[in-house]
Amino acid sequence: MGTYGEYAVFDRSKRGNSAHVIVSGNEKGGSGKTTTSMHVIVSLLKSGFKVASIDLDTRQKSLTRYVQNRRNWAQTNELKLEMPNHFRFDLARVDSTIEAQSKDFSNFERAVSEVQDTHDFVVIDTPGSDTYLTRLSHSMADTLITPMNDSFIDFDVLGRVDPKTLEIAGISHYAVMVREARRQRRHVDNGLLDWVVVRNRMSSLNSRNQENLHGCIKELSLRLGFRMAEGISERVIFREYFPMGLTALDDLSDMKVEGRTSISHLSARQEVRKLIRSLRLPVDDKGRKRAEARVTWLERSNKPVDMPDIFAD
Ligand SMILES: Nc1ncnc2c1ncn2[C@@H]1O[C@H](COP(=O)(O)OP(=O)(O)O)[C@@H](O)[C@H]1O
Ligand SMILES: [Mg+2]
Repeated sequence: MGTYGEYAVFDRSKRGNSAHVIVSGNEKGGSGKTTTSMHVIVSLLKSGFKVASIDLDTRQKSLTRYVQNRRNWAQTNELKLEMPNHFRFDLARVDSTIEAQSKDFSNFERAVSEVQDTHDFVVIDTPGSDTYLTRLSHSMADTLITPMNDSFIDFDVLGRVDPKTLEIAGISHYAVMVREARRQRRHVDNGLLDWVVVRNRMSSLNSRNQENLHGCIKELSLRLGFRMAEGISERVIFREYFPMGLTALDDLSDMKVEGRTSISHLSARQEVRKLIRSLRLPVDDKGRKRAEARVTWLERSNKPVDMPDIFAD
């Protein structure tokens, strides 16, 4: 740990076999952060990785509810569903008093230290506002996923465009924050942040607006140093999964869900898998072997669903 400028930052250089940290972030609410977090979590769990999830959205707690819904659905229907080790933070600390920040810092530190050496991945879902913990989490991310609705309104948190020429006219607040987080990370432990922007809720109809937007994101990606990943389409099913805690990656035919696996579900699954591949997460041979051994062990053990219940306050 250390401080740098006005932020406290994690010094991860002393960490040994530590987890890969994935942060889902965008200052815009409703851009798909929580939906993306849950899909990344379940995808990694299904590959046998040990995953911890942290919900920093102290107001909405949508990821926490998503995880709870999944646990309830599994319990009610006696299903074996993969679960992350989940942590949530209770108090909204949007103010910046030193005391509040220090408490947030130590809670967050406790949660991260508890999981970093025992898990393969930590997935952190952040709120659509610039809080102290949001900044802190961005400065410790190995992969930052920024889902973005397919609209210039969403683009605006990253950059501004000239209305006539559509050239980039400036960089916006969230992008400045990420740049600063990156700088701190390099300064503290020489770590690199892989920033991936994902277009969400894409329409199947090709429009001029979409093409213009695509061009602008591409130009901005060169300036800000992010990559663009395969996008996710607008699909009703993404909204329908939440109450059951399910995702496009779950096999609905086993899940006591009416209607079973639809074509839309399969297409959504393919899209999500493509997205996960384009994130290029470290799923090397060693990690994979460890993960496979875990899956086999879990299958053989025929235990009831593993439902860890670690909640930080
Ligand atoms: N690809 C999608 N298609 C349809 N609805 C979506 C899609 N992605 C997200 N949603 C819905 O949009 C809303 C906002 O998504 P959410 O993941 O909660 O965003 P955030 O966490 O950024 O606020 C939710 O109602 C969610 O179910
Ligand atoms: Mg959210």
